[in-house]
Amino acid sequence: MTSTNPVLIILRPNRGDSPREPPGASLLTHPDALSARRPLCSIRGMGRHLPERQLTNADLEKIMDTSDEWIVQRTGIRSRRVLPDDWITSDLAVASAEAALQDAAIDRSEIDLLIVATVTPDHLCPSTACVVQRKLGMAGVPALDISVACSGFGYALSLAAGMIASGLHRNVLVIGAEAMTRFMNYEDRTSSILFGDGAGAVVVSPEGRFDVLYTDNGADGALAEMIEIPGGGAREPASDKTLADRRHFVTLRGREVFKTAVRQMSLSTRQAVEALGLTTDDIDWLIPHQANARIIEAVGENLGLPSEKVVIDIGDKGNTTAASIPIAMTGVYEAGGFLPGQIIVLVGFGAGAAWSCQVVRVRG
Ligand code: UT7
Repeated sequence: MTSTNPVLIILRPNRGDSPREPPGASLLTHPDALSARRPLCSIRGMGRHLPERQLTNADLEKIMDTSDEWIVQRTGIRSRRVLPDDWITSDLAVASAEAALQDAAIDRSEIDLLIVATVTPDHLCPSTACVVQRKLGMAGVPALDISVACSGFGYALSLAAGMIASGLHRNVLVIGAEAMTRFMNYEDRTSSILFGDGAGAVVVSPEGRFDVLYTDNGADGALAEMIEIPGGGAREPASDKTLADRRHFVTLRGREVFKTAVRQMSLSTRQAVEALGLTTDDIDWLIPHQANARIIEAVGENLGLPSEKVVIDIGDKGNTTAASIPIAMTGVYEAGGFLPGQIIVLVGFGAGAAWSCQVVRVRG
């Protein structure tokens, strides 16, 4: 079957082996990609859920050697959300999904694929997506988790785009959901001050309000130990020792993540706009993964973007890992920020190391 509608195709035959080494000029894009009549897919609606309970810097001051001043200055975070004691990750996911389904004005019976991006699943097995599917009353719909940490939402969106572009699926519910506070070692002041809980979701369809023009993902497993939850897997099965050594919590090499994140998110964004024949001046909204306000500011500066185009949403939420991009995007959307024709860049970097970038255009 041939199509007269041009589709943007990204092929990367030669992957770089490090974010420090860009993967070479191997992007193939349709020359008329930006005006393509048929984008890869379109976001039809979005929603989010943020728990009401807050863990403030003042609360942290009471349990560890830190200060509000240090945390605000180094991260931009004042408080983070904490899910209710009787909630789990799937509950956050369901709440955000309900909001996205409503916004998309689509009946859940029309959803034919469900993807949950999370590194804080309800349990190792089965997938959180299957629990979400049950809670949403969507029996029979294929459901899977993907574990790509802070780039999980971008990877999931790419997966949805590929499924829709190939015709294998039509309406995909993509959720980023995290209960990060359940995996914090509050004896480690470097990592535990950063993370919070929340979820964001989108409905992705062939037709919608936000056309996905471009998507690209990358990873460098050589950096796998940079951010990890070392215990509880096959390498270090749960034992008295792993518990005593607090191996079941997030650990990170903060400075290294900081520098690599700035470099890779700047590079990914440049590659994305160039692939579409655009420049960074054409970006109306940069919505990066919310790891640290200083990381985001540095990326904005690298790209020469004015601060009003760069979304920093971390102050009252902390880093919500796979949920941070859909949460931030829904925040701008609900505030009426997106205007017809605007170009939005979503870009993430995190554990893996893995990174992800999408360009979305608001339909006129
Ligand atoms: O989404 C991907 C996951 N995100 C990340 O991995 C986060 C990326 N990294 C960061 O956001 C930053 O590197 C941090 C916020 C984690 C740390 O900020 P930094 O400016 O890179 O500080 P640092 O690690 O270089 O530490 C500077 C000082 C150290 O003290 P000394 O050695 O200079 O005496 C730390 O012990 O700050 C100390 N410190 C703290 N002080 C008060 C570290 N954490 C804290 C704290 N409160 N919470």
